Amino acid sequence: MIIVIIGAQWGDEGKGKVVDLLADRFDIVSRYQGGHNAGHSVYVQEKAFVLRLLPSGIIHPDKTCVLGNGMVIDPKAFFEEVDQIKEQGIEVTPERLKVSSRAHLIMPYHRALDHTSEERLGNEKIGTTLRGIGPAYEDKAGRRGIRVSDALSSEVLRMRIERNLEEANRIIVLFGQPPLYADQIYDEIAPLVERLRPFVTETSHFLAEARKSNKKILLEGAQATLLDVDHGTYPYVTSSNPTAGGASVGAGIPPHHITGVLGIVRTYATRVGEGPFPTEMLEDEETTANLIRERGNEYGSVTKRPRRCGWFDAVATRYAAELNGFDSIALTKLDVLDTLDEIKVCVGYEVDGRRIHTFPAVSHDLRKIKPVYESLEGWKADTIGTTEFKDLPELAQRYVRFLSDQIGVEIGLISTGPERDQTIILKDSVMEGWFK
Ligand code: GDP
Ligand code: IMO
Ligand code: MG
Repeated sequence: MIIVIIGAQWGDEGKGKVVDLLADRFDIVSRYQGGHNAGHSVYVQEKAFVLRLLPSGIIHPDKTCVLGNGMVIDPKAFFEEVDQIKEQGIEVTPERLKVSSRAHLIMPYHRALDHTSEERLGNEKIGTTLRGIGPAYEDKAGRRGIRVSDALSSEVLRMRIERNLEEANRIIVLFGQPPLYADQIYDEIAPLVERLRPFVTETSHFLAEARKSNKKILLEGAQATLLDVDHGTYPYVTSSNPTAGGASVGAGIPPHHITGVLGIVRTYATRVGEGPFPTEMLEDEETTANLIRERGNEYGSVTKRPRRCGWFDAVATRYAAELNGFDSIALTKLDVLDTLDEIKVCVGYEVDGRRIHTFPAVSHDLRKIKPVYESLEGWKADTIGTTEFKDLPELAQRYVRFLSDQIGVEIGLISTGPERDQTIILKDSVMEGWFK
């Protein structure tokens, strides 16, 4: 069985919590795109973990974790995270952590280029995490990237650094930044690559063999559908494909071997960084936005930036369901809305007084959208930690059913708090089947 977990909105839907919860029933957890721009928080009793590069399954000592070929890996960030996780009492060995030989490396000049690119864009900046993600993917598509397997040869590593740096420095210097030096970069990266060597694996083959021996594999998406470089709110996106198709490419798994796709959806929406956000709570709804931000702890787990908050957008989520083919949805953060009198849901988009039925391709058009809202009565009661659907207040049940009807996909899991056991699994759902 192979299940993909995908964020349906603009990220931070609670993928980490759900992956951690599901990981118990799986043997392998693999990331397939992105890098340490992700921040997946997992709470287990008193311990808080923030996974950036490592799959959230790493917390379970008996699971094997994979960093797939579709990822971009900063070797320094990799070992910082490995060391941090070890400090938190988790054993991390090459036996249980495999890094694809085909993944690309994020180099120090990628970070510098991320900065210059944002600076160059000025008011139009993307608001990236400045981790070098975009420039590393640019090099990959430009066929000059350095793959993990290339870096294992010191001559190739040195040669590629020298060649790529020549080009990168031209831009870096143009923006008034000091040039970087190939020797320094080599001296920093080469020992890290050497330390990485035992983890390096032909991961697609590893996953294929695992599947053949009936191992259960969970593919953990980072970022989300509306940040997908093809399908998201371009250019305000990340540079990879978090959507379901990306899982096949980025883990090296045939599409027809994927058993199911689980969408992670928050009961409201957030966005970090720039870009259109039709249901954003603006000045007139600042109080509600602040309340949600505080109750939901909506601050970036990587950059600590306050997340922009907005109402649930059914148009955008239907679009995500269509693109990914969600078989089931995990609805997170129900408890965050516990104190609201009124909860709005965007059920349609209007542009210049006309209703539109598809998600616009152009970010400029998205900014002109007037959301059409339906207003639902808040339940004004505590749902935190609820584990049975029947124990939810009637109005909360109504809200969940309303969202499911709007998206057109079952809700198989409801999250009522950050902890593992603060979860409702819906009986007879597709999701429940995966849990068995
Ligand atoms: P991810 O990037 O999709 O993994 O999400 P993040 O970890 O960046 O952000 C989600 C945050 O919400 C984390 O701090 C989670 O611990 C927390 N969280 C997840 N599910 C719930 C929930 O149902 N209720 C509450 N209150 N917090 C949750
Ligand atoms: P998780 O996996 C939310 C956003 C950035 C920026 C855009 C491009 O925790 O959901 P990048 O550094 O990737 O080039 O930035 O994408 N972004 C995220 N937003 N959650 C994430 O990951 C994100 N990863 C990138 O804020 O707007
Ligand atoms: Mg996150």
